[in-house]
Amino acid sequence: MLLVASVAALGGLLFGYDTGVISGAILFIQKDFSLTTQLQEFTISVVLIGCIAGAAVSGWIADRIGRRWTLLWAGVVFIAGAIISALAPGEPVLLAGRFVVGIGIGFSSVVAPLYISEVAPSNVRGALVSLYQFAITVGILGAYLVDFALAPSGNWRLMLGIAVVPSLALVAGMLLVPESPRYLFKTGRDLAARDELGRIYGEGGGPAAEERSIRESLAVKSGNPLLLLADRSVRLALFIGVTLAVLQQVTGINTVIYYGPQIFQMAGISSNSASILAETLVGTVNCLMTLVAIFFVDRIGRKPLLYAGLAGMFLALAALSYAFSQPHLSGSLSAIALGSMMVYVGCFAFSLGPIVWLLIAEIFPLRARGLGMSISTLANWVGNFLVSQFFLTMIQKLGTPLTFATYAVLCVVTMLFVRTMVPETKRELLEDVSMKVAAEAT
Ligand code: BGC
Repeated sequence: MLLVASVAALGGLLFGYDTGVISGAILFIQKDFSLTTQLQEFTISVVLIGCIAGAAVSGWIADRIGRRWTLLWAGVVFIAGAIISALAPGEPVLLAGRFVVGIGIGFSSVVAPLYISEVAPSNVRGALVSLYQFAITVGILGAYLVDFALAPSGNWRLMLGIAVVPSLALVAGMLLVPESPRYLFKTGRDLAARDELGRIYGEGGGPAAEERSIRESLAVKSGNPLLLLADRSVRLALFIGVTLAVLQQVTGINTVIYYGPQIFQMAGISSNSASILAETLVGTVNCLMTLVAIFFVDRIGRKPLLYAGLAGMFLALAALSYAFSQPHLSGSLSAIALGSMMVYVGCFAFSLGPIVWLLIAEIFPLRARGLGMSISTLANWVGNFLVSQFFLTMIQKLGTPLTFATYAVLCVVTMLFVRTMVPETKRELLEDVSMKVAAEAT
């Protein structure tokens, strides 16, 4: 089980690495290709456009060729993108390479959590999907460290190209693991599906209950995926999934993940290397605090962790906003600003980070899961694109204190949304979760 999840989590590692690596690489690309500010911004955001495109088609592909083959193809796309970017003779080819990498990230951001949630037994499903988020954070931290190590040589081609190694591992791994039993039932391969369920639960486990539950949920309706939207329970799940996905982004996490060094400089750390080092610390906190979610998410549940994390994020953002509203940011105020950023990232890491991916993998009925996750993940990437694209503009137009205060208010909005709309899904069979959502919709 752990092997299966680790392999799918390699998709998360590549997601994290390929989104994080550009923050350091851009300094050297800009010099080599003499980029204007606009082209620099576009070199950073083109990957997110690829993610939007990849996420848009991945659910459909995963329902056609299966979860396993889609992840395997994601690995191939990652390899192609890394090679094109690393060898790019000029800016246009680099942009094309980064776009291709984005497609790979878009694929894996939908299909990795989908695959893990479908293969995992319900009592450890939360931990296994959180492992995916952990892999994202390891990827981001790895990218910061590689950037830091290669900075003296300025070798951005190696920074981008090194992603070939985990991509090859993803392809090889997907050749070894089984297809999701839920997908096999869905496509009528009952014998193979029963076989996989037996392997997952071992001797005397619960495949009969699981099989009955999958069959019941499949019997309800199938056919044209867009017709699914006529179903109230699917629409409600979609509303919850899309809103959670957008809230995960508009509470501001990627301002710190993508622009960390710049924020640190505004907070009074003047040297480049010190601010890159501080960013590595952010990456470490992000990574370690995700372990808290892995440990607690199936024990105390999704919603308590979300409340605790969102409360911490709110307080940290309020403190950040206060520190930046003071005329001179130095001494103890700088310390408050830096501490708040760490608390903010740490609280995100055990709540909104993993649990949003988990919930959008849990709330859809099987027949609408590929489509529903695809649309929710697409919304996540659009939110990501908008926040990262307009962060610097917001700071210029609204000022730094008001920008962070806006994210703080959005944390409160998220808390209210979780309280009123989100079901607790701890230790429930996937099919029972969607029944719950259906009952709410009627
Ligand atoms: C988010 C990413 C973010 C990462 C940070 C993920 O859950 O979807 O946008 O960069 O967490 O760890």
